[in-house]
Amino acid sequence: MKAIRYWRYGAPDVLELVTLDEPFAGPDEVRVRLKAAGVSPIDAKLRSGALQAHFSLAFPKIPGRDGAGVIDQIGEGVTGFSIGDEVCVAADPAGSGTYAEAIVCASSRVVKKPANLSISQAAALLQPGVSAWISMYRTATLSAGMSVLIHGGAGAVGSQMIQLARHLGLNVTTTCRAQNIDYVLGLGAHRAVAYDREDFGLLRHIDVVFDLIGGETHARSYQVLKAGGQLVYLTAMPFENQAEKYGVTVTRAMISDAPEALHAVSRLAAEGVLTPGVMATLPLAAAADAHRRFEAGQVTRGRIVLNMGDGG
Ligand SMILES: NC(=O)c1ccc[n+]([C@@H]2O[C@H](COP(=O)([O-])OP(=O)(O)OC[C@H]3O[C@@H](n4cnc5c(N)ncnc54)[C@H](OP(=O)(O)O)[C@@H]3O)[C@@H](O)[C@H]2O)c1
Repeated sequence: MKAIRYWRYGAPDVLELVTLDEPFAGPDEVRVRLKAAGVSPIDAKLRSGALQAHFSLAFPKIPGRDGAGVIDQIGEGVTGFSIGDEVCVAADPAGSGTYAEAIVCASSRVVKKPANLSISQAAALLQPGVSAWISMYRTATLSAGMSVLIHGGAGAVGSQMIQLARHLGLNVTTTCRAQNIDYVLGLGAHRAVAYDREDFGLLRHIDVVFDLIGGETHARSYQVLKAGGQLVYLTAMPFENQAEKYGVTVTRAMISDAPEALHAVSRLAAEGVLTPGVMATLPLAAAADAHRRFEAGQVTRGRIVLNMGDGG
């Protein structure tokens, strides 16, 4: 099979297209013939070595957290799946990834593909969807009518957060670059603040801020919250906890591929609540280009998706 892999941390150039033997499904595992792989920020951060303190990688490493394809082999003890099922895959960040024509993974990391999504959308669903779902359903305390500020609403996670927030009956303000205002309003945001033209720090009385940006954005988010408000973050380096000063709570959303979250996200997509963004599709062989575009800040309105269809 064709796959992308790397032998050491480094720039996108370490990604190489290779031909490997097919993997075989062991007990409790399935093999998925992948048709598409989503390119996530974590794929680039792992490759660069920026996450060495959090994940220990075995080299050579096949990158890729998200994928979609068809089950073509089922290991002993697997229930609930059949050969031929179309599925979405949430690959272990430290294990073998989805930038390949096939992956073997635990069946608990696979969910049925929502029939209403294209294969590219399906490959862009789970990693951002689970990040949004855990932040909103398992980290924040939300009820209909609350006001939320979602930073980075034009990104893959932020765009799914906007859709979930509308589903929950929240009043949604989001930040994005000026050229994406129509996009985030189209996703359901009530109000958009262009971070390259306006100052979100002038907002007030927000119940919950979701921070996907960190740094200065994180530091300035406390002042927009009402007393007793909540700041939930996924990324906040450098992190300075100002909760006591502002009388708010601050909580990091602990993202994992819990089966509960994977199934909830796929169900919400099947119901039409969540539609993942796909910015562009590229052939598998263009993985390094996709990482370069991410590192240049050129990825917006969802994921770049790598397609296996042309054989690499
Ligand atoms: N801790 C975890 O487990 C976890 C899980 C998921 C994601 N994350 C992190 O969360 C971040 C977002 O992930 P993602 O997948 O959504 O990334 P993404 O698709 O690359 O989106 C990032 C978005 O950030 C926006 N942005 C950049 N600067 C901004 C600013 N100053 N204010 C508001 N928005 C700004 C951009 O918006 P425009 O396009 O409008 O410029 C871009 O669309 C990444 O850093 C990722 O690593 C962490």
